[in-house]
Parts: sequence; structure tokens; C-alpha cells
Amino acid sequence: MEANNGKGKYDKGDGMIRKAVIPAAGLGTRMLPLTKSQPKEMLPLGRKPCIQYIVEELADAGITQILFITGQKKRAIEDHFDKDTGLEKMLSMSGQQDILEELKFHDLDVSYFYTRQSVPQGLGHAVGCARDFICGEPFVIALGDSIIHSDEDRSLLKRMMDQSEADSGSFVIGTQSVPLGDVHKYGMIKPGKQGTDKCGGTVEIEDLIEKPSAGQTPSTLAIAARYVMPYRIFDALERTSPGKGGEIQLTDAIRLLLREGTKGYSVSLTGREKRYDIGNIRSYYEAFVDFALEDEKYGYQLKQYLIQKFHL
Ligand code: UTP
Repeated sequence: MEANNGKGKYDKGDGMIRKAVIPAAGLGTRMLPLTKSQPKEMLPLGRKPCIQYIVEELADAGITQILFITGQKKRAIEDHFDKDTGLEKMLSMSGQQDILEELKFHDLDVSYFYTRQSVPQGLGHAVGCARDFICGEPFVIALGDSIIHSDEDRSLLKRMMDQSEADSGSFVIGTQSVPLGDVHKYGMIKPGKQGTDKCGGTVEIEDLIEKPSAGQTPSTLAIAARYVMPYRIFDALERTSPGKGGEIQLTDAIRLLLREGTKGYSVSLTGREKRYDIGNIRSYYEAFVDFALEDEKYGYQLKQYLIQKFHL
């Protein structure tokens, strides 16, 4: 495990959550052939790769140390977050300040660490690889193939971290409301009595149900790629047997925490927030179009092109 930028400003000493883990070692088979030799987490959305949006979201929420769980064919992630002084000097000397601006993300107050999950054995197994890095603290998990776009003053992740800090030792899962017809694709929340399961609300979690049918689902709140976990999730992961596909499932370990009395909360996306999943071709296309349309420089032109193409 190694830091690549040596910032050394790790411990802010205020008891806040500062560490995050980005699992990015999956095979991305649903995105083949795009992912044959490049990480799906590096696929472009507008003018940035997916994982850069995630890092910016984490930095905005106050995270200062990020551990990437990488694997075979994921080298491009490390290269992307390495400062390239030669390139910057060349751009500066040739007066290309506007392009240099595009590399500003290197100035985020974040230190990067990497470890490898040699064989992808599931999301739970990937998170388990972070144990030595976390050393006793609560931490954030942000899936490397999902972006949370937020127009709120306090983003989903900030609200989740607030909730975790308000009830120390608990876990918090970010959730999104999905149509009944889609619940079979997600891990779903069974809400408890405390709180509200309305859009943007916080509710206690009674149980989690993996990919239920529309008739069996206890709610329409689906797990949305963001978690705040207490350190004891690592013990639960160690005691979790391989589940579906022979993989260690994070959801199974969280259910173990629940059964053993750990409190859990769902914090859901508001109407001004959206989750983008780039793990399958359909949702990747939708995400790309939305991000490209938002591009400050070229979004308007793309919109005009689409209007003309579809005679709108
Ligand atoms: P997914 O299950 O959606 O990713 O994991 P996948 O396995 O790459 O997808 P398919 O089914 O083969 O298309 C969500 C996130 O968890 C990471 C992935 O890289 C992705 O960012 N992950 C998943 C791991 O780090 N390790 C794993 O063993 C599985």
C-alpha cells in the first residue's frame, strides 16, 4: 500500500471521518469489450473519467485519504492521479493555460493509496482488503463505477457522514428511490419505525433484501453505491461465507452487523440528486449524455445537434 503524493496532512485530529475506500478491482464484464484492457472506472463521462468525479465528491465531503482497491489492468487509475510535472511544465511553457486548468484536480487536499485485490472475489472481499489502512476508524466506501451528482448544499455523502457522527458506531447506507419494476436489480432496504423513508429522508434500517421481486420488496429504497461503515465491518466480512457467484458480498456482512445489534440508517437522495451507474451499457450511455450536455463549453452545441438530429 503506498501514498503517491506524499502530502502527509493526514490526521486533522477533530474526530471526523477522513478516510474512504474506492473498490475498483471488478472485471467489468458487462462493459466488454470497452473494459478488455482499460478499467471501467476510467470510462469518460463528458470530459472526465468516472473515478475523478468520485474523488472530487469525496474531497468535497472532507475526505483527505483515499485507498483505491485495484487489480489487473487497473494501472490507468494510478497514472491518472499521479501528478505529471513534465506535462504541466510543457503546457505552462507553451502558454496553454486553459488546458493546464483541466489538471487542477491534482491540487485537491487528498492523499492517494493503492492496494490490489489480486483475484476479484466480490465487493465484500475488496472492502476487506482495506483493513490495515482503516485502523479502527469509521470510513466511507464509494463504489468506483457510480457517481452521485448533487445540487444540494450538503451532498448525500455529507449527510451520511453527519448521521454516522451523530450515532457513533452505527452504519449508514446511501439509498435511492427506484420504480417497483426495477427492485429486482438492487439490494433493497427494509425500513424500521424511526425516521422517514421519503425522498431525502433518514430512516433506521431493519433489514436488507438482495434483489427481491416487486411483490416481495419491503420498500422502493435501493442501495446507492455509498456507505459509511464502522471498523467492525471487517470482523463481519471475515465471518461472511461466499454467497452468490462464490463471492463475498458486502450486503451479507452488513446483515450480520444488523443481526448482532449494530444500528443502521438509510439516507436517501433528494430530488436534486441523481445516481449514475456506469456498470452497464444502457446506464453508461445515459450518464455520458447527461454529463456531456452539462459541459460548460460544448454542452450547448451538443444540445443543438440533438435538437436538429431528432427534429425537436
Ligand atoms: P460490480 O459488481 O458492479 O462490478 O461492482 P464488476 O464485478 O466489475 O461488474 P461485472 O458484473 O463484471 O460487469 C461494483 C464496484 O465494486 C468493484 C468494481 O470494480 C466496481 O467499481 N469490485 C467488484 C471490486 O473492487 N472487486 C470485486 O471483486 C467486485
